[in-house]
Amino acid sequence: MPEFNHIPVLLKDVLNMLAPKPGERYLDVTLGGAGHAAAIAQHIAPNGELVGFDRDPDAQRAAQQKLASFQLKTTFIQSSFIDMDEQLRALGFEDRSQNGGFDMVLADLGLSSPQIDNAQRGFSFQTDAPLDMRMSQSGETAAEFLARVDETTLADILYQYSDIRQSRALARRICEHARQGEVQTTSQLAELCCGIMGYPRPGHPHPATRVFQAIRIAVNDEFAAIDAFLQAIPKWMKPAGRLAIISFHSGEDRRVKEAMHRWQNPCTCPPRLPVCICHKVPLGHTLSKKAIEATPEELAQNSRARSAKLRGFVFNA
Ligand SMILES: C[S@@+](CC[C@H](N)C(=O)[O-])C[C@H]1O[C@@H](n2cnc3c(N)ncnc32)[C@H](O)[C@@H]1O
Repeated sequence: MPEFNHIPVLLKDVLNMLAPKPGERYLDVTLGGAGHAAAIAQHIAPNGELVGFDRDPDAQRAAQQKLASFQLKTTFIQSSFIDMDEQLRALGFEDRSQNGGFDMVLADLGLSSPQIDNAQRGFSFQTDAPLDMRMSQSGETAAEFLARVDETTLADILYQYSDIRQSRALARRICEHARQGEVQTTSQLAELCCGIMGYPRPGHPHPATRVFQAIRIAVNDEFAAIDAFLQAIPKWMKPAGRLAIISFHSGEDRRVKEAMHRWQNPCTCPPRLPVCICHKVPLGHTLSKKAIEATPEELAQNSRARSAKLRGFVFNA
């Protein structure tokens, strides 16, 4: 199996937020190469428990190998966390209302480095490869998605997920070519992007970067997974449980920020009412007012931490 090298981002900050202690139960919904998970495993072993999701079979194998040397109870689930609730229940885990749940949960969203670096996965236009982009390595590829999606839907995806101003013209061009079977590779898609958005200029990001990002988000249904996770997670947190979420896209971070705000300020009474009548109580409080970002020192070591934003929440005891 090829090496699965991924440098965990904001590791010290994640450890500060999650404050792992011996014997605790940890849920990692984006195991990747288990960089964060191994650092946490050191604190919770022995007698701790680790439950890990990743939809990518390569990541699952790498994480299993990396964590094998720790004295821990482990459960690995190769699935999207969009189904976290059902998967945990099917395996017999109990939630907070049944005196179960987790002391710490981490979601480190987006892609891991090996997914980007392995040209055959089709996430990057740096090398010509089949246009794949599936984290799970199953289901519809990006090429198949583009061959069936209608122009208006694609334009909305490009505009809403990546703010692409030429979204309509680009969607029209992509759909025309994809229907003829001419958008099968990363280079073919990148070339169409340049035709509409202009060719790359020194010192500027390649115009295809944001187009690839938007299509990847759509192919993997990433925002729906985050919404489902944020909806389900409070009931899986033990009393005084800590949750940390790292996002890499403004659409992800907005969802996380809004969910944590709702958990902290759940009252839905109209502001004109002198007293609260909805009686919704806060679930806990955020662990930092603003999102935590990488320091210049970390960025010098790992440029992929560039857009990372970490937010944390501690649930009521
Ligand atoms: C940024 S990496 C995580 C890296 C990990 N924290 C580490 O330190 O090695 C994100 C991982 O989450 C996985 N992933 C992304 N979305 C997912 C989802 N909806 N369900 C399960 N896994 C997902 C990806 O396959 C990828 O391996």
